Amino acid sequence: MNSQNRISSDEANATKVFVRIRPFNVKERKLTEDTKQLPYVLRVDENNPSLITTLDPSKEMLPKDTYVFERCFDDLVASYALEEGAKGKIDAAEKRKVGKDQSLVYSHVGKPVLTNALQGYNGCVFAYGQTGSGKTFTMMGPTNIAVAKCDPSTPRVRDKKGLSESVTPRLSGESNETNGATQTSGVSTPMDALEDSALGGEEAESAGLEGIIPRLTREMIDELHRKREKDSSLSFRIEMEYFEIYNEKVMDLLTAGGNKNVELRVRNSASGPYIEGLSRKHVEDERQIFKLIRKGNLERHTAATKMNDRSSRSHAILSFHITQFRLDMNDNASKIVSKLNLVDLAGSERTGASGVEGKQFKEATKINLSLTTLGRVIDALASISQNKKGVFCPYRDSNLTWVLADSLGGNCKTTMVATVSPHAVNFEETCQTLRYASRAKQIVTKVVVNEDPTGPSNQTADRRGATSAADH
Ligand SMILES: Nc1ncnc2c1ncn2[C@@H]1O[C@H](COP(=O)(O)OP(=O)(O)OP(=O)(O)O)[C@@H](O)[C@H]1O
Ligand SMILES: [Mg+2]
Repeated sequence: MNSQNRISSDEANATKVFVRIRPFNVKERKLTEDTKQLPYVLRVDENNPSLITTLDPSKEMLPKDTYVFERCFDDLVASYALEEGAKGKIDAAEKRKVGKDQSLVYSHVGKPVLTNALQGYNGCVFAYGQTGSGKTFTMMGPTNIAVAKCDPSTPRVRDKKGLSESVTPRLSGESNETNGATQTSGVSTPMDALEDSALGGEEAESAGLEGIIPRLTREMIDELHRKREKDSSLSFRIEMEYFEIYNEKVMDLLTAGGNKNVELRVRNSASGPYIEGLSRKHVEDERQIFKLIRKGNLERHTAATKMNDRSSRSHAILSFHITQFRLDMNDNASKIVSKLNLVDLAGSERTGASGVEGKQFKEATKINLSLTTLGRVIDALASISQNKKGVFCPYRDSNLTWVLADSLGGNCKTTMVATVSPHAVNFEETCQTLRYASRAKQIVTKVVVNEDPTGPSNQTADRRGATSAADH
């Protein structure tokens, strides 16, 4: 455990857990038409959206279990799933409704994480749930948006003063990260036709369909510029990484050409695990970030399954490293660093139900393996938080849990969004997701502001866990 230069004291932080119920999708609605049943198996308390009750379809919808979460978002009300296959049937009013849902989720889930990150806390948001339950939709937006090639003639919807100016001077000693684990490379290539201010172009943005990642990105840039306008002694630097874990292999989503599909190794160091050779890009504005995300989304492994036209077959992890540097009148330097991990997991699935075979069966097996390990890690961390002795946390049993060790159990304010289907056919998976989620709620970690009063140094936020996850 590294405690150098820590000036704030540790603070206990419980993992925040939200639940999001997606609307019925085309297949579920069709089932409903055929059977004329009312298959809605979840009820969110009207007066208290923290309470959710499962209704057992095998017992005439009798209430089964009630859970308490941070908040439950019930997108079913007057809405239906915005599926690729349903394109064209969706009217403007419906889009506005879904846009409102997205905005509400961002304000409760994404915004507080960003606020904490700008104060110097590490943060992590991860979406967990059955395949087709809305993880990618929650993190990124509708999948066609996430990979859309933008029309270069699309005008910028927002014109932010100074956004395109380079006001993020490079900090000395920043290029060599701890352990030499990551190489920082600036985005020096000119922006090409993908350049745009929205992940899916003007239409997507005006309809407000974007998920947490694009919204958080835009606010992060705006907020840092706003801070700098108020305080000219402040400068900032943002670096990003984007990688996927596919069949247990870690792959960079930001490299192109010959380096594509190269498996990267997760190495261990005294300060925790790191990914050797992962590219880290210096980014200055939202357009650069969106361009890189879009490129990465195109690289990411997806496939059609019975449950989802574009199912994520890999776990995707987007990391922002934010450094805020201040030099006062007396030349006293201080630095706040934070790392934000935004994670869109591949979906858990019963291989039979999701209709996978062959190559996809292997993928599903690996996905299930890492998600099972995630479940065991969550279980172990919850037990440790309840002061159970002698509990072993199996971080190293999957690459997913190993690279996210600090986000799950270390110096990090972590938020989970459990996404669920409301339909009776998915009752078992929905119950399982809620059980998982309620266990995650019990995890308490020690967090600390990553503040360094002595000026630029070689430390980075993510290597300074108050309780390094690797300590468990
Ligand atoms: N809250 C929602 N409102 C409207 N449409 C939604 C919502 N959640 C999901 N959808 C739609 O449902 C479909 C499946 O969602 P999504 O791709 O996000 O699932 P997923 O959990 O990421 O699945 P997988 O694990 O297979 O990747 C998509 O077409 C998406 O646009
Ligand atoms: Mg997905």
